[in-house]
Amino acid sequence: MPRYTGLIDKYRDRLPVHDDTPIISLSEGNTPLIRLANIPRQLKKSVDIYVKYEGLNPTGSFKDRGMTMAVTKAVEAGSKAIICASTGNTSASAAAYAARAGISAFVLIPEGKIAQGKLAQAMMHGSIIIQIQGNFDAGMQLVKEIADHAPVTIVNSINPFRLQGQKTAAFEIIEALGRAPDFHCLPVGNAGNISAHWIGYSESAATCPEKVTEACAFCNGHCRFATGITVKRPRMVGYQASGAAPFLRGHMVDHPETIATAIRIGHPQSYHQAWAAVRESNGWFDEFSDDDILLAQKLLAEKEGIFCEPASAISIAGAVRDIQNGKIPEGSTIVCTLTGHGLKDPDTAIKQSTAPLLKVKAELNEVKAAILDNMVK
Ligand code: F0G
Repeated sequence: MPRYTGLIDKYRDRLPVHDDTPIISLSEGNTPLIRLANIPRQLKKSVDIYVKYEGLNPTGSFKDRGMTMAVTKAVEAGSKAIICASTGNTSASAAAYAARAGISAFVLIPEGKIAQGKLAQAMMHGSIIIQIQGNFDAGMQLVKEIADHAPVTIVNSINPFRLQGQKTAAFEIIEALGRAPDFHCLPVGNAGNISAHWIGYSESAATCPEKVTEACAFCNGHCRFATGITVKRPRMVGYQASGAAPFLRGHMVDHPETIATAIRIGHPQSYHQAWAAVRESNGWFDEFSDDDILLAQKLLAEKEGIFCEPASAISIAGAVRDIQNGKIPEGSTIVCTLTGHGLKDPDTAIKQSTAPLLKVKAELNEVKAAILDNMVK
């Protein structure tokens, strides 16, 4: 098998690149689709839940899928600098890909409101960090304005190449399952990722020779063509934090608040695309409190051995609740996107953990007592 060299190389025929496009890649993509074992058992429901562990991308989030495309196209166009507003992950990714390309990255982040790991990444990769006394939405507004005044390429998801890169997650899921899932659950912040997945699923569906996009008389949604691609598209389900839930409120939110800082966004840029994805797929949006988000993060870490950041865990909170209440029926195949790695935000993890942090003398008897006292009975 040839060495994996990143998603642009792999999906070159489905992405807007040419033979001579200078590809900027860190071998992103190709992330594992892990089948959950213990949570479905605990739910006592016959469902197949998979997590697409995007935290295993090179900078620890799904942003790398979009960033390889955005930076590749920026370099192809001769750009010497990129800029983004970010709740953390986009800035980490932009910084890394700019470093790789040998160009500058300017990142606008809300002061004091991004997780430590993300800040460390942006700093280590040598980006120019502009902390603003305002939230992501204010940063996004400034970035849109500044691009008219300075020679910088915006690499937020309003850059269409970002969504092109991110759509490849849907291709990988279809390849791994041999079909699209019945439900795809994911966190929604700026709303680019849910929109990108819908593009990816829709393009795959469009390869059907019968040109149908839903289950048809020929295949009932489960046919396979020579490409191994199925026709049916999943129902898209987007989850938001209650304090930052414009899709639930039906209007933009001016002062978004949530512990899941990655999705602390009140004015999503892909608002209409995300609504279209949910409507066309017959999906829905729902919301969760910060407490529920943290419980889901812990559940996944403790029961499945998978560590994701708080924003990502909302997809698990949502899938579990909607399986329990029957909105997602038994027999379903569900994919939850885990958008970012848990190590991005160690502070929130340590604060909420109830794991015993014992302190003993460096003596055999003390260690032995600590072990025996804490054995699971
Ligand atoms: N999960 C994580 C870990 C994120 O970092 C983001 C977005 C989302 C989910 C939501 O995805 O915006 O496409 O709906 N983070 C952006 C950033 C905004 O700046 O890193 P979305």
